[in-house]
Amino acid sequence: MEAEFGTVAGWTEEAVRALGPEHAVPAGTRGSGGEGTLRWLADRLALEAGSRVLDDGAGLGGPAGWLAADRGVRVVCAEPMREAARAARRLFGLPSVAAMAQSLPFADAAFDAGWCLGVLCTTTEKAALLTELRRVLRPGSRLGLLVFVADRPLPPPLPEGNDFPTEDELHGLLEGAGFRLDETADADLGDSPPEWSQRADAVEDEVERRHGDDPRWQEAREQYRRVGRLMSDGALRPLLAVAVAT
Ligand SMILES: C[S@@+](CC[C@H](N)C(=O)[O-])C[C@H]1O[C@@H](n2cnc3c(N)ncnc32)[C@H](O)[C@@H]1O
Repeated sequence: MEAEFGTVAGWTEEAVRALGPEHAVPAGTRGSGGEGTLRWLADRLALEAGSRVLDDGAGLGGPAGWLAADRGVRVVCAEPMREAARAARRLFGLPSVAAMAQSLPFADAAFDAGWCLGVLCTTTEKAALLTELRRVLRPGSRLGLLVFVADRPLPPPLPEGNDFPTEDELHGLLEGAGFRLDETADADLGDSPPEWSQRADAVEDEVERRHGDDPRWQEAREQYRRVGRLMSDGALRPLLAVAVAT
């Protein structure tokens, strides 16, 4: 995961700088699909201008950058990979801290809303992550999630380091951490304007041109391929969820 979420994040920032700032949001949105997904969640977080929002496991900050610009909210990014946390700060000018979701450097009830996109399935520490997220959200606030769920055993080869919950497990984890599930929907990760995909592809091509021979790029590509195959087989399902902090 170091290669996929750390090294490649730094290379992606480099490629965005070479191609132009309009590439930052699509290229910096990794694993959360596209604009349709972000919009669906943002519409359900009861946001107001100036709301304090946590992006937990923010990666390069594409979703946070989009949310701050589209909704006029104050987004803070937390992300354990230093290259990614730095990219979020430099590409989007957002406050960004290198931190694991199980141990966030924020006061209780510091945020009016949060989202956590494509992160729960990358850790076995799901209960600790959600409990900590609940701690930093104020009671009654809303949490948006994108989770890749596996409702049956997955056929190999599996992406390394992932731990996909079933949808029932996700419901239990949310309840156990002090959230009430409000709404779910299947995510359409391709629901973005054509220029979104064109820009994301252009950045990927640029990274490949610069680093295509590096084994860490090959490793990250293999991870994407494995996840892509499981999704096209229908074994993995991207699920959107909105929960309320009780
Ligand atoms: C698929 S990426 C999604 C990034 C970002 N949320 C997005 O949608 O573009 C998963 C992210 O989760 C982060 N991550 C993995 N384990 C984590 C943990 N225990 N706490 C916080 N973030 C974690 C990874 O470093 C990576 O940036």
